[in-house]
Amino acid sequence: MKGIILAGGQGTRLYPLTVSLSKQLLPVYDKPMVYYPLSMLMLAGIREILVISTPEALPAFRKLLGDGSQFGVRFVFQEQPSPRGIAEAFLLGREFIAGEPVCLALGDNIFFGTSLPQRLRRAAQIRQGAVVFAYQVRDPRRYAVVTFQYDESDSERGLALTLEEKPAQPLSRYAVPGLYFYDAQAVAIAEALKPSARGELEITDLNRVYMQRGQLHVEVLGRGVAWLDAGTPESLVQAAAFVQTVQERQGMMISCPEEIAYRMGYIDAARLEAQARQLAQTTYGRYLLQLLEDEVRE
Ligand code: DAU
Repeated sequence: MKGIILAGGQGTRLYPLTVSLSKQLLPVYDKPMVYYPLSMLMLAGIREILVISTPEALPAFRKLLGDGSQFGVRFVFQEQPSPRGIAEAFLLGREFIAGEPVCLALGDNIFFGTSLPQRLRRAAQIRQGAVVFAYQVRDPRRYAVVTFQYDESDSERGLALTLEEKPAQPLSRYAVPGLYFYDAQAVAIAEALKPSARGELEITDLNRVYMQRGQLHVEVLGRGVAWLDAGTPESLVQAAAFVQTVQERQGMMISCPEEIAYRMGYIDAARLEAQARQLAQTTYGRYLLQLLEDEVRE
C-alpha cells in the first residue's frame, strides 16, 4: 500500500504563526507536526510515501524529511499549487499511486493509543472498499460525521450508513478523523468528483461514493485512543501538553519515526545510531541512543 501525507493549505486559523511557515512543520512539543501522521503510516506498514504541500513550503519538507532513508522509507514530494480540496491528493498522486491501494493522512492529525498499531495494520489490509475511523467528540459539527451499523461479529467495526461534512445538525457524535485507507478505486472516484459549493474536491464526497457502494468500512476508535488536531492555537498547545505529559511520565516517545523504523525493522541498529549521533546534543538524540543501550541490557 502507498501512503500520502497532505500537508498543504494556508493554515489561516493559525495566522500570524503560519504566514511564513507551514502549519505541518510547527512544533508539537518536541517534533514537527508532520512526524505524527508520518508515524501512523509507518506503523501501518507503509514505506512509500508521497508528501504534498504548497510550492512555498515544499522545500522545507524536503529539507526536513530528505529521501526517507533515515526512517527506512522512501519519500516523493509533490506541489499542490492551490488548496483545491483534500481529494485532489488522488489526482496529484495518480502516477505515484500507480493503481495500488493507498492511505491518505492529513498532516495535522495526531493519534495515540495502545491498540492503534494493530488497527492500522488491519486497515492497511483493505483490498476492496475503504476504511475510515469513527471517533466520538463533544462537538462533531467541526468534522465529517458518520453513522454506521456494527458488523455482527465485530464490536469495533461497521459499515457506514450516512456521512456528512460539517453538518449543522449532526446525526451522531462520531467524527471521521483525517486518516483514510482505500482500495484501487480511489483515483477513479476522485476524477469523477465535482467541486463543492466552497470550490473544493471534498474527501467526504469521495467517501460517500464508497458508502453508496456499500464499501465504506468504519473502525471505531474508543476511549483508549487519543485523536487530536492541531489547527488552532488552543488545540496546538493542548496537543503539545498532551505529548509532553505522556512522554515525561513514561519516558517513551509518541510518534518518533526513528524509533518506529527501528522497531518495525525498517532500519538496523547502525542506522539508528548514526541518526542518534547527529542529534546527540538534544533530548531527542539521547532518547534514540538510550533505545540502543536498553536493548543491549535487555
Ligand atoms: O481533521 C479531520 C477533518 O479534516 C475531517 O473530519 C473532515 O471531513 C475533513 O474535511 C477535514 O476537515 P478540516 O476542516 O480540517 O479540513 P481543512 O480544509 O482544514 O484541511 C485539512 C488539512 O489538509 C489541513 O491541514 C490543510 C490540508 N489541505 C487542505 C486542503 C483543502 C491541503 O493540504 N490541501 C487542500 O486543498
